[in-house]
Amino acid sequence: MTDRPRVVVGVAGGIAAYKACELVRRFTESGHDVTVVPTQAALEFVGAPTWAALSGKPVAADVWSNVHEVPHVRIGQEADLVVVAPATADLLARAAHGLADDLLTSTLLTARCPVVLAPAMHTEMWENAATEANVAILRERGTLVIEPADGRLTGKDTGRGRLPDPAEIFETCVGVLQRSRDADGTFARDLVGRRVVVSAGGTREHLDPVRFLGNRSSGLQGYALARAAAVRGAEVTLVAANTELPDPSGVTLLRVGSTAELQDAVLAAAADADAVVMAAAPADFRPTKVSDTKIKKAGDGSAPTIELEQNPDILAGISHDRPRPDAVIVGFAAETGDETGSVLELGRAKLERKGCDLLVVNDVGGGRVFGEADNQAVILGRDGTAVDVPRASKVAVAHAIWDQVVRLLAR
Ligand code: CTP
Repeated sequence: MTDRPRVVVGVAGGIAAYKACELVRRFTESGHDVTVVPTQAALEFVGAPTWAALSGKPVAADVWSNVHEVPHVRIGQEADLVVVAPATADLLARAAHGLADDLLTSTLLTARCPVVLAPAMHTEMWENAATEANVAILRERGTLVIEPADGRLTGKDTGRGRLPDPAEIFETCVGVLQRSRDADGTFARDLVGRRVVVSAGGTREHLDPVRFLGNRSSGLQGYALARAAAVRGAEVTLVAANTELPDPSGVTLLRVGSTAELQDAVLAAAADADAVVMAAAPADFRPTKVSDTKIKKAGDGSAPTIELEQNPDILAGISHDRPRPDAVIVGFAAETGDETGSVLELGRAKLERKGCDLLVVNDVGGGRVFGEADNQAVILGRDGTAVDVPRASKVAVAHAIWDQVVRLLAR
């Protein structure tokens, strides 16, 4: 037995099967116990030796190998997560109708853990009424069916139906695993029917066509929040400023550059949102003048003086002048603590000043947090609550934040 999370990677017979190799590698390298279950058709694309080598385990597609170990029941029963990537139209149909005609569909029927399906097929197949109905059945039963991406398909055609980036599928799966572990096996879709807005990344204020004032925000925490909300069933708008991360699937992504653009996008999306989470790091100042041409060095060795003016505080703005009175508004505070107060004291004061409902306070003393996979926080509530989130993945921190949002939405 192993105490590593046990992940079954199902692979159906589509050209995107080769991308599942990277997914398997990501799972094994991050310490998961992986069993690959391809369909017979998947083995036409990528052979069993590849899957066996990547997972370190024997691979079978049928139910007739190692029958004494009853694999068609055992693999599903023991799994902590089953993910199928790519899930073809045929696989979705068989899963929706409870067929058990190979090892993968048998595993899907016996799994008691969360199931994630990442569809990949041609646009016509994805948009066919039969596929739409199958996806609806699966979602109704609690299966997480990731939205396929738009882009190049097999051959020359492009459109919806592309397998999302393996890194993206991996992040979603880690979020689901984390969630199911936290919630003791149950997989709460407690944001179904809710619209949420998340901002991420750092804004840039241009001095001239090639130079800008920016900051070190990577966008990782905001992206984790967007994915976690999508996993919990929310309709998510992610407003991303200058990020270089894979697009989260099933999320409406709006790209912005400056604080003014971020403000416009957030305010527009917040009009009918149940929650707004400002995880972005907007530049607080912008140059009063932006040069249309590149600023040149002066011959006399002098340096230009850059005059700055203050940007609007988006979080304070929507907190004090709320687009919807019942919406939950969440801010972030990166604090180091100083002679005027501890990290928490400064956090409480900022919560009051900004007027938001929740403030996620990070201790960034010593340059921690930026660009790292982990985070640690205290979530302060205007109602006096303080929830400590010990150092954990940004996905886990994201779920802890949504737990607090869900608590406030239920008021
Ligand atoms: N924020 C915002 N608009 C700004 C600046 C910040 O909406 N122009 C939001 C951030 O997204 C974050 C929160 O405000 O949710 C806290 O950001 P922080 O930089 O700590 O706030 P400041 O007002 O810059 O705090 P300080 O006075 O400590 O500089």
